[in-house]
Amino acid sequence: CGIVGYVGRDDSTKALDVVLDGLARLEYRGYDSAGIALVAGDVVETRKRSGKLANLLTELDEQPLPEGRTAIGHTRWATHGGPTDANAHPHRGGTDGKLALIHNGIIENFHSLKSELLDAGVHFESETDTEVVAQMLAELYDGDLTAAMLAVVSRLEGAFTLLAVHADQPGVVVGARRNSPLVVGLGDGENFLGSDVAAFIGYTRAAMELEQDQIVTITPESVTVIGFDGQPATGKQFHVDWDAAAAEKGGYDTFMEKEIHEQPQAVNDTLLGRTNEVGALELDELRISEEQLRAVDRITIVACGTAAYAGMVAKYAIEHWTRIPVEVSLAHEFRYCDPIVDDRTLVVSISQSGETMDTLMAVKHARELGALTISVCNTHGSTIPRESDAVLYTHAGPEVAVASTKAFLAQITACYVLGLYLAQLKGQSYAQDAKAVMAQLQQVPDRITELLGDLDRVREIARFMADTRSVLFLGRHVGFPVALEGALKLKELAYIHAEGFAAGELKHGPIALIEPGQPVFIVVPGPDTPHGLHGKVVSNIQEIRARGARTLVIAEDGDDAVVPFADEVIRVPRTAPLLQPLLTVVPLQVFALELATAKGLDVDQPRNLAKSVTVE
Ligand code: G6P
Repeated sequence: CGIVGYVGRDDSTKALDVVLDGLARLEYRGYDSAGIALVAGDVVETRKRSGKLANLLTELDEQPLPEGRTAIGHTRWATHGGPTDANAHPHRGGTDGKLALIHNGIIENFHSLKSELLDAGVHFESETDTEVVAQMLAELYDGDLTAAMLAVVSRLEGAFTLLAVHADQPGVVVGARRNSPLVVGLGDGENFLGSDVAAFIGYTRAAMELEQDQIVTITPESVTVIGFDGQPATGKQFHVDWDAAAAEKGGYDTFMEKEIHEQPQAVNDTLLGRTNEVGALELDELRISEEQLRAVDRITIVACGTAAYAGMVAKYAIEHWTRIPVEVSLAHEFRYCDPIVDDRTLVVSISQSGETMDTLMAVKHARELGALTISVCNTHGSTIPRESDAVLYTHAGPEVAVASTKAFLAQITACYVLGLYLAQLKGQSYAQDAKAVMAQLQQVPDRITELLGDLDRVREIARFMADTRSVLFLGRHVGFPVALEGALKLKELAYIHAEGFAAGELKHGPIALIEPGQPVFIVVPGPDTPHGLHGKVVSNIQEIRARGARTLVIAEDGDDAVVPFADEVIRVPRTAPLLQPLLTVVPLQVFALELATAKGLDVDQPRNLAKSVTVE
């Protein structure tokens, strides 16, 4: 869910505009419903509607809100209770119309809390866990919203960000967080709260991180932080280096198209400033000693979705360069597989948002088990980097489209830097490749630009295939996770059945799926890839073509061996075998985008999804 809060001076009339603007920028975090609460005289007025933000705007046209100085807003990804108007946030507490609350997360003990309130005669209007908190807050309110919030959070189990306003304190917004995101935006005579900095990026670049289990009270002139134990605390201030324009479409029809075109920049920026004056690699925030890193004898990568596929690509490279065994674990499975982790294990989490709850919980578990933890993350001020021993930031800029593109490339790039860094720590014999690989990586952005200018045929193929019901994707080695990512993009964006396979595995079962006309993308490794891999994949193409598959072959420039067996050849520029995913995934992204567009779908906000899933 996306959360935004604003408070301005007495004479401010901005609250509605600021909160709606913030909601528009946060809508990628969930779009099942949207709502706003605004302090208006003696009461708090609320408006909310199921569906996208546009529905709330219609509601506001029909039932306008007055001008105001204090407001909170919410865009929802439904957990408890379906995506209905009644279940949309804000929720009211009490019967006097003075208190409203919004919430991101899940209150695990809400059933028992609700029974207590029902016994006390409280009436509920929704099925949500959030309304339970709103009612508790109203019960406990005695003139001080911060004190009431402090009393409430001590009763809650689960993960949550809460924001509340009360009409008797018209210049105050109170927020609380546990394992769920909340950052403060610092203005001049106004202050902001948001799930992430995008909420207030149009108004201020000065921001403050909060720790877990803290309550923040903002007024126009002050930001006061206390712990859930009631003790005063201070937040860490930081500067947001994304500008507002970076979070807008900039002439493209969709965020996704824009973000695909920003990939050369994302790779380039993620590589920038990684080497010091003697050419050695450096990480961003390293709170682990080199000694500890040298002792690492096992690496586990934890991530979800596209980030997990970036981890699978990274495994091949890091093992090759460091000879340290690397395992990739879906973050939500990690805790339950009794992971083998000790103080010589490095757990690398990969997360664009830095807020994915599954990944956060895996990191916490790893730390409890004594592992060293490094976060590869795109979002400053987010939770996972703060909960980790070290951070390697990707510099992809804000990624707004729900389906990830440029963050994927930046994650692979950052993991490669990490792998080369570890190789360098292990000593000269490992580090010899590092310089050469960095030089090759530095050429990748130009190759992507070249490729992006040459994908018209992919778009044509996609439009032609708008009615296709199933597409398969094959790859080997680093091409295997690319195949998985190609399939995921098509599922997410175009709602088409799509599956990725390791090409060698096909003959062990999935080849039974091949029937005449079945479209299959094949990611072909470069002809120079060791162990004769290229030839093996060419054989795999022949095997499926012989059974009637329509073969859509992604191959390097100059690779003529594929031509006799390909219905279509999609060319990518040549690069080193391990760097190939940074290029081969691009046509697959464009294919999914174009096909979904041809079907008339909303590519930036596909159904049922949210950009950062902050529940387990
Ligand atoms: C969600 C998104 C995916 C994303 C995954 C991991 O499922 O829909 O696009 O890959 O979360 O997100 P993260 O922010 O942790 O990289």
